[in-house]
Amino acid sequence: MSNQDSIIQVFPINEKNGIYSFRHMGEFRIVNLIGAGKFSQIFKARPKENDDSENSKIFNCTIKIFQKCNLIKNNMISLSPKKILFNEISELHLLQKINSIGSPNLIKMYDWAIDRKTCETRILMEYMPYNMRNYFSNPQHINNLTENSLKKLTYQILLGLNALHKNRIIHSDIKPENILLDPEKNIVKITDFTLSQFVTYDLDKKDFSNGGTYSYMPLEGLLDTKKYGFSRDIWSLGCILVELCCRKIPFKGNDSNTVIKKILKINGMDIQSVSSFFDYCKNCIDNNGEKERIINYIKMNSKIVFINEDCYDLFSRMLCINPLYRITAEEALKHPWLANID
Ligand SMILES: Nc1ncnc2c1ncn2[C@@H]1O[C@H](COP(=O)(O)OP(=O)(O)O)[C@@H](O)[C@H]1O
Ligand SMILES: [Mg+2]
Repeated sequence: MSNQDSIIQVFPINEKNGIYSFRHMGEFRIVNLIGAGKFSQIFKARPKENDDSENSKIFNCTIKIFQKCNLIKNNMISLSPKKILFNEISELHLLQKINSIGSPNLIKMYDWAIDRKTCETRILMEYMPYNMRNYFSNPQHINNLTENSLKKLTYQILLGLNALHKNRIIHSDIKPENILLDPEKNIVKITDFTLSQFVTYDLDKKDFSNGGTYSYMPLEGLLDTKKYGFSRDIWSLGCILVELCCRKIPFKGNDSNTVIKKILKINGMDIQSVSSFFDYCKNCIDNNGEKERIINYIKMNSKIVFINEDCYDLFSRMLCINPLYRITAEEALKHPWLANID
């Protein structure tokens, strides 16, 4: 590929009248922008023929577009075009695999297309009205959160994670923005597989690239960026659940050191004494008391009155610092707190 080929032409949405075509499902019209990240933009859309606002059976869906213009704007163009393409192709590939898993708690892809001219990858997915972050930022929604609805939410996320892990996929970016909700239908779905990894062989030998959101990353990922497994997603879920109860992110930080310090504080350790995850395990063989300290943290900060011992137990097992002892999705689904959901 010559240098000239790597200069990418971008067509603004308006030039196409907001119409996007797909391989099998035809043309879709953009309704509005829902989200925009470093690599992609997400739109609510409808089939072109079914575009009538009077139509009560409107089929809403979502289009995720990986646009090269975003990469240029964010100075990511220094990456080789091959590397740039990797994000969208890997997400597309994983979404195909996820469709074949068929879990109701993982977002479903309907169709996709790659525009050869613009090098733009488009993914057509089912539509969900909220993500967890925007839904619970409404005080009415968070104040009305009942124990039963928290259980249902947790159970469905665990079902989604269990389906991923059984199929050897680590999500790697579990956070409220990537959990989608339809409160009317009581449905929860995990989305955004941009950073996900399909693990085909021994985890120990896998050389992981380590992306993600610091505040939801476990210590093993923060300290030893190449060593983490499925349990990474369970830590992130633990952080989300504690955040819902305490109305604040438990290990919040914009850089890894801030988050490492907050996690180590649970066991009274400081960052100077720990330079690798191996170091941490060596200095903290005896995890005695860690569970109680995590429970105390939740007890002191929780704004929710219904939390009971079973609930504390499950959350603290998800936030076990050593991933060897952290609860798995399969075990968590059988936990007593989730035994009787209405
Ligand atoms: N299928 C969907 N239905 C509704 N909203 C969605 C859907 N997929 C993504 N979104 C919204 O767009 C945001 C960004 O999408 P995401 O796939 O997470 O992209 P990014 O890689 O930029 O984080 C999400 O946080 C969510 O609010
Ligand atoms: Mg996302």
